[in-house]
Amino acid sequence: MATTSLPPLSSDLLEAHHSGIREIANEAYGMPGAIRLEAGQPDFRTPAHIAEAAKAAIDEGFTFYTPTAGIPPLREALAGKLERVNGIDVPPAQIVCGPGGVGVISATMATLVEPGDEVLTPDPGWPNTSIMVAWAHGREVRYPCPPELGFQPDLEALERLITPRTKVLLVNSPNNPTGAVYPEETLRRLAGLARDRNLWLISDECYDQIMLDGRGVAPSMANHLQDGRVISVFTFSKSYAMTGWRLGYAVAAPDLIDGIIKFLESTSSCVSAITQKAGVAALNGPQDCVAEMVSAYRRRRDLSVDLLREAGLLVAEPQGAFYVMADVSQTRMGAREFALRLLRERQVGVAPGTAFGSVAGQAVRISLASSDQDLREGIGRLAEFVQELGGR
Ligand SMILES: Cc1ncc(COP(=O)(O)O)c(C=O)c1O
Repeated sequence: MATTSLPPLSSDLLEAHHSGIREIANEAYGMPGAIRLEAGQPDFRTPAHIAEAAKAAIDEGFTFYTPTAGIPPLREALAGKLERVNGIDVPPAQIVCGPGGVGVISATMATLVEPGDEVLTPDPGWPNTSIMVAWAHGREVRYPCPPELGFQPDLEALERLITPRTKVLLVNSPNNPTGAVYPEETLRRLAGLARDRNLWLISDECYDQIMLDGRGVAPSMANHLQDGRVISVFTFSKSYAMTGWRLGYAVAAPDLIDGIIKFLESTSSCVSAITQKAGVAALNGPQDCVAEMVSAYRRRRDLSVDLLREAGLLVAEPQGAFYVMADVSQTRMGAREFALRLLRERQVGVAPGTAFGSVAGQAVRISLASSDQDLREGIGRLAEFVQELGGR
């Protein structure tokens, strides 16, 4: 057979890393009985009334393409939710739905980032955005949210990282992986930076309703800047335990919405019509399911924080999302190596801090979307292992 040389692939995309959480998840998958604390998704079933609405959509034949941004009843219900829950007053025309928060953040990046543009992202932070910046041919610059600041952004360091090429500032509160929730004053200062340095601001608020400190909802960036430069992103995945349904949405100024829709037109045409009907039922139906799941996360947070504190491994108490970080620095081992050994030798999966950047390179993320029993057993084994490796 003749050898042919094929044209090169996109080097920026190829050089981007797969999420470091996958490495642990893939290995844990083939390990029956392993305690899985690495996954970032609710362990609850989607509430029955939401699933029923999807079944009805199939039975009624509601199975065709829809408008790209979403069916009108969904966008109207979202305008109601945004006002009621987040205090954001926008018309349905400024709301666009896409395949998960990840889909709308990707579409936003595609709309904003040109080759060579710098995008500021949090360290530690959700790894998927790094891949987006790569295919947009931008350059990711990480700003530190270090453990010693309770994982809050170091605003002075962030300001020093802004250059004439900086185009986008991405903020994620409540934060994955740290559970930090930024207070209004921090949001105000971040908004001020974006305004003064003329940056777009993507505010990833996908965990808006997963608040562990008794407040109903996290403060929204949209309430700090109304000049059209903020794009707030939300999802059904976390609040309604709908990760597999793929429904997220963004709120943005009209010019931007048009770009986002154009991108979505080319990548997904629309979110599954069936999922959209489920989304309408989620928003218009009873909301106690959200409160019940959040109260379970809160109970598990309290349990995990107590266990970690007792073992001397707690870094900061999470206030939102469903994660807590454990300090494994005394093992004198990087978090990736520690997580691999913990899985292989103690059958406990955790997400290494190295998957989220370098600032939390000696910590691991534990997901509170796991049963109380798994958390108790898993954290127990982790603490013992740290002690053993640390030689204390
Ligand atoms: C910080 C953050 N943003 C966005 C998302 C996107 O979630 P989805 O695409 O399921 O809506 C996730 C999912 O884990 C996340 O952790």
